[in-house]
Amino acid sequence: MNICIIGLGYIGLPTAAMFATHGHNVLGIDVNQKVIDALNKGKIIIEEPNLEETVNTAVKNGSLRAAMEPEESDAFIICVPTPIKPDKTADLTYVEEGIRKILPYLKKGNIIILESTSPPGTTRDFIGSILKEAGFVPGEDVYLAYCPERVLPGRILIELKENSRVVGGINEESAHVVKKLYESFVRGEIYISEATTAEMCKLMENTYRDVNIALANELAMLCEKMGVNAWDVIKYANKHPRVNLHMPGPGVGGHCIAVDPWFIVEKQPERAKIINLARNTNDGMPHYVFEKIKDLTKNVEGKIKVCILGITYKPNVDDMRESPVIELIHLLNEQGGFETVVVDNHVNFEGSKERDVYTAAKDAHLLVLAVNHNEFKELDIPRLKNIMKCPVVFDTRNYWAADAFEKNGMEYHLLGWGRNKS
Ligand SMILES: NC(=O)c1ccc[n+]([C@@H]2O[C@H](COP(=O)([O-])OP(=O)(O)OC[C@H]3O[C@@H](n4cnc5c(N)ncnc54)[C@H](O)[C@@H]3O)[C@@H](O)[C@H]2O)c1
Repeated sequence: MNICIIGLGYIGLPTAAMFATHGHNVLGIDVNQKVIDALNKGKIIIEEPNLEETVNTAVKNGSLRAAMEPEESDAFIICVPTPIKPDKTADLTYVEEGIRKILPYLKKGNIIILESTSPPGTTRDFIGSILKEAGFVPGEDVYLAYCPERVLPGRILIELKENSRVVGGINEESAHVVKKLYESFVRGEIYISEATTAEMCKLMENTYRDVNIALANELAMLCEKMGVNAWDVIKYANKHPRVNLHMPGPGVGGHCIAVDPWFIVEKQPERAKIINLARNTNDGMPHYVFEKIKDLTKNVEGKIKVCILGITYKPNVDDMRESPVIELIHLLNEQGGFETVVVDNHVNFEGSKERDVYTAAKDAHLLVLAVNHNEFKELDIPRLKNIMKCPVVFDTRNYWAADAFEKNGMEYHLLGWGRNKS
């Protein structure tokens, strides 16, 4: 089949590469010229294991290429961003642009698939009405379905193949046609459903995680006041065969868990109470960590230097979208008047940064572990003790052992551990 994929990011590009290495001809479309130029040379501009090799193979075979403009195809797959606006409602501008872009090339019998995470009703009502305006009857003239991803960055190529997924068609025929298409590379089960059900399903998967992380964050804050270690509570509670408490942290980031629950709240704000509260609890964590940092450094006189390890939204990825650490740094710099320096070699970002932990930690009054990247696991603790102005660390991820620091004369603080309660 000839497949045209609109949006070549973390989802569109691996999907394009999978179709192209499983018997299809794929044209990738993007608005970013750098993405197109790189792809046509068999290269990628994001970090994802084995993706460049797969793209390279497909480009060399002639089954994958990229351009700015779509062409006539059998199937069109929309993988563009769906961010939230400042008012916490979905920004569907990119989805609309993507759909309008394919209209001139659309023919009867074509398949249209939305992969972008979207508020309930987007496929059937929003895309459906654009297609109707253009003279196509969705479900009769063209097949239309929502077919979301559940991949984990860092394992995208494996999970694209192995995970089960749900296809939500606007009618049964659309769902069956799309299922058949994805069966060319998906080995997991493909379940057939209706479009809005599948959209709600995708949103609830991430909402489930957001609400559970909020519960863990609440537990961490409670434990700090009780003289209890939340991480021990979680460890032992999870020995219960039907309990799975999540982990606390400095907030929730990424463009999925930190965003998707709002798409539900947007539709029924008066009913989505738990979802709304969880979102606000998690969004409040950078501020909570900021207050902790103020407390840990309250005896320092003059300008306080804080060294922050990690800025991405999760470990070992190059993705900073919605990262709570960005908000934390902003609070420290703007509200707290701190001097901050950040170490994160996975990403390029504006602001005060160092490549080396020890250069960054020199003369610091506090070292904060914000993201548990692998390279921060083993540190030269005696060296840190010597170079820091105050030998104090604050671990927001339960990544380090207290003993390792304390036996070297350093102070160790852990988010959610009440032994250091103020
Ligand atoms: N990354 C994930 O793990 C993941 C998982 C499940 C769902 N999703 C959803 O998939 C969608 C895409 O996410 P992503 O992570 O791939 O985003 P991304 O930002 O990595 O990639 C999107 C790409 O679309 C391009 N683009 C924007 N507007 C365009 C347009 N009008 N025409 C053509 N290209 C355009 C951008 O230049 C970019 O390359 C989002 O809705 C996201 O919520 C992402």
